[in-house]
Amino acid sequence: MSNDRVIIFDTTLRDGEQSPGASMTKEEKLRIAKALERMRVDVIEAGFAIASPGDFEAVKAIAETIKDSTICSLSRALDGDIERAAEALKNANSGRIHTFIATSPIHMQYKLRMQPDQVIEQAVRAVKKARSLCADVEFSCEDAGRSEIDFLCRIIEAAIDAGARTINIPDTVGYSIPHQYAETMRQLLERIPNADKAVFSVHCHNDLGLAVANSLAAVVAGARQVECTINGLGERAGNAALEEIVMAIKTRQDLLGVYTNIETEHILSTSRLVSGITGFPVQPNKAIVGANAFAHESGIHQDGVLKHRETYEIMRAQDVGWNANKMVMGKHSGRNAFRARLEELGIVLPGEAELNAAFARFKELADKKHEIFDEDLQALVSDSLGEEAPEHFKLAFLEVASKTGEVPQAQLVLSVDGVEHKATSSGAGPVDATFKAIEAIAQSQANLQLYSVNAITQGTDSQGEVTVRLEKGGRIVNGNGADTDILAASAKAYLNALNLMQAGVHKTHPQADGV
Ligand code: KIV
Ligand code: ZN
Repeated sequence: MSNDRVIIFDTTLRDGEQSPGASMTKEEKLRIAKALERMRVDVIEAGFAIASPGDFEAVKAIAETIKDSTICSLSRALDGDIERAAEALKNANSGRIHTFIATSPIHMQYKLRMQPDQVIEQAVRAVKKARSLCADVEFSCEDAGRSEIDFLCRIIEAAIDAGARTINIPDTVGYSIPHQYAETMRQLLERIPNADKAVFSVHCHNDLGLAVANSLAAVVAGARQVECTINGLGERAGNAALEEIVMAIKTRQDLLGVYTNIETEHILSTSRLVSGITGFPVQPNKAIVGANAFAHESGIHQDGVLKHRETYEIMRAQDVGWNANKMVMGKHSGRNAFRARLEELGIVLPGEAELNAAFARFKELADKKHEIFDEDLQALVSDSLGEEAPEHFKLAFLEVASKTGEVPQAQLVLSVDGVEHKATSSGAGPVDATFKAIEAIAQSQANLQLYSVNAITQGTDSQGEVTVRLEKGGRIVNGNGADTDILAASAKAYLNALNLMQAGVHKTHPQADGV
């Protein structure tokens, strides 16, 4: 590998999933893994195989499906974890075991209750064990950002001698400052005698908003792998955002002198996929993938961009997937054009029945909204790509009355396994009234954990995409619904969540089993 290439290691499915409320089902993880592969991510950390049977199954399924990216499973520096990771990865085209142990004084003393020499011994044992099961082993010094440099040098030298070929220096608690983190990387590369036998990696958390800056500073100092997540998803304030790292490297190649293999035009669709699945909206001013990232509002900027794009734009919007295919479809578009457009968007529906159903929904939407954009198509097919959940509850009729100064009222008819039930309810607002009316029939006793609405495209005729997260007895489901009528979208999302819960499709926190 050229020494100028930066390996992109995506941990959306592992560290990203550790953010509260972002748990994903196996099916959803597979969809994201396919999008990451399409974007040519080098390494996909698919999960933490020992954490739960669900995590194990997801890593296994991803390892069996994805062919072009290396699939990685996290494991503590323990035999049982490492064996479980190896088992989940056994059918991978290219698999990696990522083992870690904490190296900071505070973690060693209070969390591990181990002496530094014992930590080194356990790290060496773990790396050797992992190497006995897998040729590609990564070793991480958890909380490296607060570890002593002399100790880092000792443990890393030993881990490389034991067979680790990637050494990760995580800023676990997001404490580092760019110049200091870069200096740590520089010293490690200089002082560790066998440093040339491993690729040095960074993994930065965003507690001080510095995850991307720290990662890039470490790349300048010699790191050649960056661990990151789509939309910066991750524990607490999140991880370094993949899209920002990749576009900074591409845009400032003149200064950084390195490159990645990422096909950047797939960034936006992947960001939307992750946002839709997790129900975490992307803020409008988010770099690269936010709705305003390439929007010029002020007259001076607009004038400048029209005269010469580079006056105010440092990247081309289409390079990350914006505007690339703003081609519009409408009610006269045929089934073949519909299928072709989906294929161009990387969407392949499982069969003809799903294609026909999606096409019927497309025609319905085209009657309400005369221009259909790529984003509309993505929302339209997301039902067919998601979890299989029989429609136990189905919306047959909805009427909501909302007037200034009066309490909103919702009246609806739900078909429950084909039998119609009516309910009326009032609420604090029209959405509240709608959900209460649904619950009057469904009696699910689930807790509403999240309700979010996003306009899929611009304009008041845009479809609203609603995510509803329900929780019951530790089981979590995310339901999605899209419609030009926000109340209908809300009802659909709520019913989708109830149907998923009914079908037993749920997510639990990845470390719910106490790992
Ligand atoms: O933040 C961290 O230290 C981690 C490690 C397990 C790599 O996620
Ligand atoms: Zn982390």
